Amino acid sequence: MQEKKDLILSLQQIQETALAALQKVNDPEELENWKNTFLSRSSEIMQIFKKIPHVEQEVRPRLGQNANIVKTELERQFEVAKERIQQAALANSIAREKLDVTLPGRRPERGKLHVATQTLQEIYRILAEMGFQVYRSREVESDEYNFELLNIPAHHPARDLWDTFYTKKEGVILRTHTSPGQMHAMREYAPDPVRIILPGMVYRYEQMDASHEIQFNQIELLAIGKNITFGNLRGTLEEFVKRMFGTGVETRLRPSYFPFTEPSAEMDMKCIACHGKGCTVCSGSGWLEILGCGMVHPVVLKNGGYDPEKFSGFAAGLGPERISMLRYGINDIRNFWANDIRFLNQF
Ligand code: FA5
Repeated sequence: MQEKKDLILSLQQIQETALAALQKVNDPEELENWKNTFLSRSSEIMQIFKKIPHVEQEVRPRLGQNANIVKTELERQFEVAKERIQQAALANSIAREKLDVTLPGRRPERGKLHVATQTLQEIYRILAEMGFQVYRSREVESDEYNFELLNIPAHHPARDLWDTFYTKKEGVILRTHTSPGQMHAMREYAPDPVRIILPGMVYRYEQMDASHEIQFNQIELLAIGKNITFGNLRGTLEEFVKRMFGTGVETRLRPSYFPFTEPSAEMDMKCIACHGKGCTVCSGSGWLEILGCGMVHPVVLKNGGYDPEKFSGFAAGLGPERISMLRYGINDIRNFWANDIRFLNQF
């Protein structure tokens, strides 16, 4: 009888102690510790259950009932505390991580146009203002268009300058310049006058260095009509350079040779990287060649469908990467296609 009383008493104490301790529990870790202390197999309440079979028969049901009531109450209070702690954590995180709508937004990184494309577009814009329309032609060309029709027959020494990449198909090559586009355009428009630019990628079997790539862009200019003179060519190019670089730039036109123009010339610009002193960009000469040009050769006019007695024309081939180098002081052409984001991000 005495033991029964003691046990009932201790049940009460267990409940009081446990609930008092639970009041002080404020975080999930403390709650877990509390559960281990008051509800695990080794807890006092569970010890009482173990004692039940050993007390007198008539006391057992009452003791069992009471023990169950305490255990259920502790479990219920455990759930209440758990809910209280979760709510407090949520309220705390809402207070701490409040959304500040006045903070500046995080901008997603945006891509941009490659420096070569930016320069190409600037060139299109200037030449469009000067009356030139864009004419697109193919990068995979025939030997006939890339060389023969441009007055460069097989075994002509000029072919060495424009050696290229060959395909397995006989006579099919990657174009070495945009000049074959001249022939496509002439054959399409002859005998109408044309004033066009032919932009695009060209390919060369080339020793790479600071100013020579194996793939680069060119923009070809072509004007054909009646009474077109070398003066028109010179005026057009000088006006273009002025619009592209400003009035202060120094250029020079020097005689040169191209099989598809006669007379032929090349235009150089004073090297902006070294201000004409000589550096790796300009191969020490102080000047950087930006274009080749000349009056369209009579043979080429004829191949294109124009009567050279009645028509004349000028043509030029610009290197836009070289122009970008001069514009932005880029000292190595190999940067253009190296895909280094640190380089590309600067433009
Ligand atoms: C030609 O390609 C001629 N078709 C240009 C031409 C057109 C002349 C019409 C007359 C009439 P050239 O190989 O010099 O010429 O190249 C022209 C321009 O392309 C050069 O002035 C230069 O700016 C650029 N260029 C040439 N080779 C390279 C290279 N390896 N890397 C980068 N740019 C180059």
